[in-house]
Amino acid sequence: MSIDELTTPASVRTGTLLEVEDLHVTFAARGRTVRAVNGLSYRLEAGRTLAIIGESGSGKSVSSRALMGLLPPTARITGSARYRGVELLGLPERRMRRHRGADLAMVFQDPARSLNPTMRIGVQITEAVRAHGDHDRRAARDRAMDLLKLVRLPAPERRFHEYPHQLSGGMRQRVMIAIALAADPKLLIADEATTALDVTTQAQIMELLLELQERLGTAIILISHDLGLAATYAHDVIVMYAGRAVEYAAAPALFSRVRMPYTKALLGAIPRVERPPHAELPVTPGQPPDLTNLPSGCPFAPRCDRAASDCVAEAPPLTEHEPGHAWACWHPCEEDV
Ligand SMILES: Nc1ncnc2c1ncn2[C@@H]1O[C@H](COP(=O)(O)OP(=O)(O)O)[C@@H](O)[C@H]1O
Ligand code: SF4
Ligand SMILES: [Mg+2]
Repeated sequence: MSIDELTTPASVRTGTLLEVEDLHVTFAARGRTVRAVNGLSYRLEAGRTLAIIGESGSGKSVSSRALMGLLPPTARITGSARYRGVELLGLPERRMRRHRGADLAMVFQDPARSLNPTMRIGVQITEAVRAHGDHDRRAARDRAMDLLKLVRLPAPERRFHEYPHQLSGGMRQRVMIAIALAADPKLLIADEATTALDVTTQAQIMELLLELQERLGTAIILISHDLGLAATYAHDVIVMYAGRAVEYAAAPALFSRVRMPYTKALLGAIPRVERPPHAELPVTPGQPPDLTNLPSGCPFAPRCDRAASDCVAEAPPLTEHEPGHAWACWHPCEEDV
């Protein structure tokens, strides 16, 4: 048994951390209702990585921000999201603040906007450390330096005194991860955290997250529009479309036996070497549905080459058709990849 295993309580390394059940999020916008999340359910075990993937606008960020209490007041949220048995939805801000950072933390796509341009890196991390614990100034500073080393920022002693604009995009993302880890969260939500980075840096940051997961037992929700990233790094995968989960399985099962035509279309859109790494991916002809006017049938039907008349009559529910493999489709793909 390693030292990390000895020092990490067993309850942190095993057991259900997060249970999301029938999550709905709507926004009232100019007299219309935007149905951003429409009945999302999943479960995350400690120390696992769950990838949530889907095209832009499929409800990935909104569903995760709902857990963190980070949606604007115009959002109406129903359903349940329990963190270690504690219901997060509807928690007063004062109580939510206790969980945010210390239990659940989020890393966003754009560190340039998330970091304060007028403050030195070291001060920003030190403040994050002090916000969540009773460290005195010196202990917080030492912890901030340790965090910079943990995320493998090159030349941390020098960078500690620099401003965000003096760092590369990859370095800023490492700093954001250090800030997110300041209070030892048990769950880290990485929302397109590597999307703005070049492929090499993206791989380095992902390796870093997995290494931290191994050492600290952190669970990770990896939000991405990139199925390749999910295939490489996640244990479990949820494919979202129009605010719903349309396929949900452990990564090896999902990628060897794709059932949902939308997932199949996404798979066909994994960037090839010749494509610029972060170009918008041509998924499949047609547009995602209008979230203010969702059809009663399968929302993917207008774009689906397997659609039949029953598809437009009734939306298929997400059902576990094979052990550990659920999909929402009346006429799933049958051939294994
Ligand atoms: N504050 C808001 N008001 C109205 N609609 C919103 C708001 N935030 C997000 N949405 C809508 O919710 C849908 C889901 O958004 P989001 O979760 O950000 O998608 P993504 O999967 O790209 O992360 C989108 O159609 C988006 O326009
Ligand atoms: S239910 Fe029908 S339209 Fe929807 S994905 Fe399946 S085959 Fe396509
Ligand atoms: Mg998003």
